Amino acid sequence: MAQSVPSPPSVNVSRPRAAPPPLPAHVREIADAVRMELWFGDADPRHADLEASRSMAAAAAKAAGLKPFPEVAQRALGLLADTEAPAAKIARVVAEDTALAAGLLRVANSALYRPTTPIASVQDAIVRLGLGTVREIVAAVATMGLFADASGLAHAIRNHSAAVAALARVFGTEWGAKGVDGIFLAGLIHDVGKLLTMQVKELDYATLAPETRTKPDECHVHERALLGYDHAVLGAQVLTHWKLQTELSQVVAWHHQPGRAYAAGGIVGLSVALVRLSDQLEYKLAENIAPDPAFCEALAMEGAAAYAGFSAHHLIAMWPKLVLVREEALASFGVHRK
Ligand SMILES: [Fe+2]
Ligand SMILES: [Fe+2]
Repeated sequence: MAQSVPSPPSVNVSRPRAAPPPLPAHVREIADAVRMELWFGDADPRHADLEASRSMAAAAAKAAGLKPFPEVAQRALGLLADTEAPAAKIARVVAEDTALAAGLLRVANSALYRPTTPIASVQDAIVRLGLGTVREIVAAVATMGLFADASGLAHAIRNHSAAVAALARVFGTEWGAKGVDGIFLAGLIHDVGKLLTMQVKELDYATLAPETRTKPDECHVHERALLGYDHAVLGAQVLTHWKLQTELSQVVAWHHQPGRAYAAGGIVGLSVALVRLSDQLEYKLAENIAPDPAFCEALAMEGAAAYAGFSAHHLIAMWPKLVLVREEALASFGVHRK
């Protein structure tokens, strides 16, 4: 069967527009990536508008400039990715940033990890939790530490993020005995783009419709309409700039584009499903923690739960644990307070 070829969009050649000023190389690089992320596979030619990616590139460059990733954390993450690196060397690097070291120990000793006896040092954390977990905590503490002074709506987003991280971790552990690599961090920073958007004063979220703060999959639609891009893609660009793992950036970029994530599959598809499932539950639990079988039935029919293999029965059985873990995360997840 012959393949149908979409006809090219009609182009008005009679009224040429003035050429925009050239973009600096590093902004152009971000703009290209943004265009790919935002409109890849989008059949609507209006979305091929360069303006959205230009303004987002500028916002991403500004946000990355305002919030450079802490240098000590960056070095520690490099060492934590090296299975040959001695624990003592990693501990020495982490100790250079006292707030990072304190944050790491606070999170390692929190209800999230439940050590049988207190973890007393960075080396102890590496031995008992493993390199991967300590790496995840360092990245989490460093990233959220950038927003330690959050207040008002930003504080609410931080709380939402901590709760989503804790819920995603529970779903990861339920999904497979060993959990899902990096899922806690993915949950924690999935909405970092909102914090960055606030930081660069691109959008006042307080002026948006209330449902953008109380329901999943609402906010990014408003952002796209107003800014031409959304917090998911902005956050991913800045995470890439910070040199956090590529997969993590991809999960953040696609957490409101589940179709693309599930089509890609693998750890990215699964992580997006678990983050989305946790996101939906977090909004629900923020409203009411009473068990809600009808909600679980509806959630189980939705893409994320179906993709990750959670039935309504699973969700109902997990409800008390999810409520408890969310409360613990909200009560005790004090990351990197100065
Ligand atoms: Fe989001
Ligand atoms: Fe969210």
